Amino acid sequence: MCGIVGYTGPREAYPIVINGLKRLEYRGYDSTGIALLNGGLKVYKKKGRVADLEGFVLGKDLHSNIGIGHTRWATHGEPNDKNAHPHQSASGKLAMIHNGIIENYAQIKKELLNKGYSFKSDTDSEVLLNFIEEIRKNNDCSLEDAVRSALKRITGAYCILLIDEDDPETIIAARKGSPLVIGVGKGEHFLGSDATPMLEYTKEVVYVNDYELAVVKPDSLVLKNLGNEKITPFITKLDMELAAIEKGGYDHFMLKEIFEQPSTIHDCLRGRLDANAGTITMSGIQNNMEAFKEAKRIIILACGTSWHAGLVAEYVIEELCRIPVEVEYASEFRYRNPIINKGDIIIAISQSGETADTLVAIENAKEQGAVIFGIVNVVGSSIARISNGGAYTHAGPEIGVASTKAFTGQLAVIMMMALKIAREKNTISQERYNALLFELEAIPEKVEALLKSAEDIKKIGLKYQGATSSLFLGRGYNFPIALEGALKLKEISYIHAEGYPAAEMKHGPIALVDEDLPVVFVATKDSYHEKIVSNIQEIKARKGKVIAIITEGDEVIPGLADDVFYVPPADELIAPLLSCIPLQLLSYYVGIAKGVDVDKPRNLAKSVTVE
Ligand code: F6R
Repeated sequence: MCGIVGYTGPREAYPIVINGLKRLEYRGYDSTGIALLNGGLKVYKKKGRVADLEGFVLGKDLHSNIGIGHTRWATHGEPNDKNAHPHQSASGKLAMIHNGIIENYAQIKKELLNKGYSFKSDTDSEVLLNFIEEIRKNNDCSLEDAVRSALKRITGAYCILLIDEDDPETIIAARKGSPLVIGVGKGEHFLGSDATPMLEYTKEVVYVNDYELAVVKPDSLVLKNLGNEKITPFITKLDMELAAIEKGGYDHFMLKEIFEQPSTIHDCLRGRLDANAGTITMSGIQNNMEAFKEAKRIIILACGTSWHAGLVAEYVIEELCRIPVEVEYASEFRYRNPIINKGDIIIAISQSGETADTLVAIENAKEQGAVIFGIVNVVGSSIARISNGGAYTHAGPEIGVASTKAFTGQLAVIMMMALKIAREKNTISQERYNALLFELEAIPEKVEALLKSAEDIKKIGLKYQGATSSLFLGRGYNFPIALEGALKLKEISYIHAEGYPAAEMKHGPIALVDEDLPVVFVATKDSYHEKIVSNIQEIKARKGKVIAIITEGDEVIPGLADDVFYVPPADELIAPLLSCIPLQLLSYYVGIAKGVDVDKPRNLAKSVTVE
């Protein structure tokens, strides 16, 4: 949450920072602001999106070779101009942007108020900035030392960038819990919450770790810990192209990402799965194979859509590997006193690799001796780096706030890893293993085929766009897909949607059913098919409107449902990779019909780095 960008070097900073903010808008879009230094400090900030700020600064003096910019997802203080970042210190000499939450800000604010400070905003960030200024004033120390002292006093999460009117080439940056990437150029440096703002300028980046502070000048980067000891920056080569973060002719990133799935799933399988040879090559699994084979239990930690992938993993791993699996919301797990036994494996699933709850939950579990396995999309992200082993989903940058292609990447990784472990444990027959490998290998082509019928699901969506509430039901492997379909619809169209196991519906939600309620059944051909047919009949008997996602060749459900969408046949274990896609499209088309900005739906942010 919140995107931060910085630049220091010989170029004009404004266009670099503003374009960087556009790429980071997925992290929050409540307000935008920029601070430049040209003779004196110039801070421009505005409620709303980057485009609003661009309008606001028209005609203003934007010349500067140093700049910091921020796109906000509000935590402390409502989204308005005064709470927008950058904040300026009481003296007016310092400007700071912040991503995170200062938990003990109230105490520090009280101390500063007693010393006569006043505050222009309601934010915790302005409190931290004035705290830094106060330390610098009292101790007559450098800004770097003042930042270090202040950070030792605060609790919470932060990534901060500061510039000082009296030191016009330097950005001071520090992080704990919120991401920070520094791009290393020739005589210039770039800073960002992720690497996208610097993609066209440099491929050499440094991922800053927690409790590290960087003093960044055009031709030097000094990295230190909070104990003031120097750390050698570890430079990583970026493996990402500009085209991956552009819309490429689609109206929205979400649609582009849905339609990319044949290739993203293919990229995820490529080099790993070879059905003809009967092999799955995953070094992250292989290196931890003994731990997986001996595991008494697997605990999966995730949030949101990634949590739904975790639920699919529970069904698949228990079925294939015969290892008990528990799936936990990371936000709950981290605050209770969970029992972690020797031999337990924790799997963290995260697209961004930065979700605060998931990150802290696995940090705690790691301290208790658990082996952490990460299923992550963003290469080099915090969760990827603290995991003992892992597998990337290789879905490429996901910009649309609603997760789509990262989800199918997670499912593909889960299915491959479960198959690999099961074969090693001998809990799956060679015949079924081989058959599932071929099934998995065929998925990209089947996704391609079903996407050709996108217009069909669009028509269904338009028919029901006026609904105010909806139910999503599924059984077995398709139950998590029903949950995911409901989550997609509510975040992208603002229609209330509840996901339920289809049989559980009789124990409460059925009371909602009337002639206005669309009920979406995820009912592909599987071992529960007859049971779900009965559930559909139960809804029809109460005049509910049934939309069903079914397998080609199904002759029963078309006679019962009001609308159907066909997906190609697949083994029930693999079917979630297909059945989730019409639900992504459904939410997209309904959202568009309702005029929602589907790439940036209200109140959401893509990378949830606050708890
Ligand atoms: C929903 C969505 C969120 C994320 C959740 C976890 O479309 O995108 O529910 O899945 O915030 O994020 P990651 O996977 O980055 O940990």
